[in-house]
Amino acid sequence: MFKIVKRQEMAQGTVVLNEIEAPLIAAKAKPGQFVILKANETGERIPLTMADTDPEKGTITIIFMIVGKSTALFATLKEGDAYMDVIGPLGAPTHIEKLGKVICVGGGTGVAVLHPITRALKEAGNHVFCVIGARNKDLLILEEQMKAASSDLRVCTDDGSYGHHGFVTDVLKSILTENNDIKLVVAIGPVPMMKACSNLTKEFGVKTMVSLNPIMVDGTGMCGGCRVSVGGETKFACVDGPEFDGHQVDFDELALRLRAYTADEKESHACFLN
Ligand code: FES
Repeated sequence: MFKIVKRQEMAQGTVVLNEIEAPLIAAKAKPGQFVILKANETGERIPLTMADTDPEKGTITIIFMIVGKSTALFATLKEGDAYMDVIGPLGAPTHIEKLGKVICVGGGTGVAVLHPITRALKEAGNHVFCVIGARNKDLLILEEQMKAASSDLRVCTDDGSYGHHGFVTDVLKSILTENNDIKLVVAIGPVPMMKACSNLTKEFGVKTMVSLNPIMVDGTGMCGGCRVSVGGETKFACVDGPEFDGHQVDFDELALRLRAYTADEKESHACFLN
């Protein structure tokens, strides 16, 4: 069993942080890697990229939005409760190296995934511009942590309630326009956001990495559930990713596959709530 040592609600209760005792995973995990969690015997396996790890304390941190039955079930777990299974670290770690100037762009709970990557890029000696966004001020997460992890933080909200009024792509474009020596963009968030960022950086000829979140089952390359098309080839996000070249990803196919079980997910969530 994997005990929850800290639970915190964010974004007006729509997002939950769990710090979980998992010393073996905490000792090995690297930025960009994920875990698969199961709340109980009959629970669904849910993949979540780690937002932080503390090898000394032996804990990992996950941050998830309550979007369906399983995340609603996760949200009922309190401090002192435990997940039945936490498997990991899974996936390939982010390739971290000193490049010069880089930009990290995060939207929604993608900011949580971006956090350890941003910190590692800065610790490697890069100047890290960071752009984070949310629909409104109340839904923005980890602002203080991202400020500490990056060299220059810019904040956006779709409704203008905080920071730049507009999308992360607006700010990404202005940084790319003002700096012709950006070596890498890392964009993590909803599929339309990653697609828009990748389309933009393609115009500027800047290499772009995205972290994909397809439906997963085993997380070890066995089932094919997480397949994505990258550069015309089929890749398994759980073992070949989750990070891929954003200029090569077929985002439309990914969005379609993510919607495949929407009706069943809604029904299952409704049953759980009743
Ligand atoms: Fe089964 Fe990736 S989750 S192959």
